[in-house]
Amino acid sequence: MGEIRPYPAKMTLRLAEHNKDDRERRLADIRQSLGARSIVLIGLMGAGKTAVGRRLANWLDLPFIDADSEIEEAAGQTIKEIFAEHGEAYFREGERKVIARLLDGGPQVLATGGGAYMNPKTRAAIKARGISVWLNADLRVLLKRVGRRDHRPLLSVGDPEAVMKKLMAERGPVYAEADITVESRDVPHDVIVGAVADALAAELGCEAAPRRSAQAATPRRKKVQ
Ligand code: S3P
Repeated sequence: MGEIRPYPAKMTLRLAEHNKDDRERRLADIRQSLGARSIVLIGLMGAGKTAVGRRLANWLDLPFIDADSEIEEAAGQTIKEIFAEHGEAYFREGERKVIARLLDGGPQVLATGGGAYMNPKTRAAIKARGISVWLNADLRVLLKRVGRRDHRPLLSVGDPEAVMKKLMAERGPVYAEADITVESRDVPHDVIVGAVADALAAELGCEAAPRRSAQAATPRRKKVQ
């Protein structure tokens, strides 16, 4: 199992602190270091994978792909209908195939459904062709977010809180194998996007100090001892 390395909240503002040029350069560095790999967002339902992923793609000027939407398009049915008509096992097999195909399309930001990373073949494919980012959130945040909509078949049977707690316990140790872990707190999405971008820069080794402004670059007078 991978080591859990949550990126601390204070890192989240680093990109915002830089001036616009520094920020653009850091994002360009991330894009370049990524090569053809995909940034793959994983985590439980309600973690913010789609919302954060869409904004991250926008920041990085990369395509954003939502695996669940691609599965629905390929099947010509909603996920709820696939579960109801064919069962979960059928959905999981389709999910594995669709994600394997999508990973050929990098560089991109790819948001996956909450169960996708639990499949060992999908995990291996993501490891080979992507950088995985676990958006980890606490139960209160997840329940608040998933309560807003009712399109998730796993949450339409039984008590959502009990289901979510069970999934957290089962999936947490597997999600922790991701390359990067970012806490998805109840703050504006852009704050989380900043934290993901900082974590990506660190993971990809784009940690060079920002170029100084002309004024700041003026050599300082030597301190007389
Ligand atoms: C699932 C999560 C859903 C969707 C399906 C199953 C899961 O995606 O793939 O309902 O097993 O956690 P989101 O995580 O985007 O809600």
